[in-house]
Amino acid sequence: MTIRRAVYPGSFDPAHYGHIDITTRAARTFDEVIVAVYDKPAKQLLFTVDERVAMLREALKDITNVRVAPFSGLLVHYVREVGAFAIVRGLRVFSDFELEFRMALANRRLAPEIDVINFIADEKHLHISSSTVREIASLGGDVSSMVPPAIEAALIAKFSDPNRDGAGTNYVVSLPD
Ligand code: PNS
Repeated sequence: MTIRRAVYPGSFDPAHYGHIDITTRAARTFDEVIVAVYDKPAKQLLFTVDERVAMLREALKDITNVRVAPFSGLLVHYVREVGAFAIVRGLRVFSDFELEFRMALANRRLAPEIDVINFIADEKHLHISSSTVREIASLGGDVSSMVPPAIEAALIAKFSDPNRDGAGTNYVVSLPD
């Protein structure tokens, strides 16, 4: 029997309830979902790839057909390497659509056999983005309704560490990730 495997890629800096909701929906649709954490997105990161992977593993540990792994390089190469046939992405608001559309078409140009399947998160999570979470947490705000407790604790620890890389960075920039 062929395993219907999908890859859900992202920066997950950090993961939030919207990502968990999308993963849960994808896990109901596919036999196996690999949540693939991109190691070096072209943006200022708060968490290392190992930290992002560890936080997601903890958050998703109860979903048996989901595994979390880091990836480098081109997404379509990774998708082929792990024997998946689909890329999962979440859609929240209209402004997500253009970027997702362009990414899906670029990936299709590179790998026509791989389809992109978009899921829409529960409406109570639609406004959450990692950048909003980082921004609120950096200002001491309450993100407990947006991220699981372990990720909230990691954010508090990160922002209270004056020696961390990038300490003093202004996170008050709302970017749609
Ligand atoms: O959570 P994000 O930052 O929106 O995720 C973006 C991600 C990691 C899915 C995208 O940047 C990506 O696929 N990067 C891997 C490099 C690649 O394949 N780039 C071409 C995609 S069009």
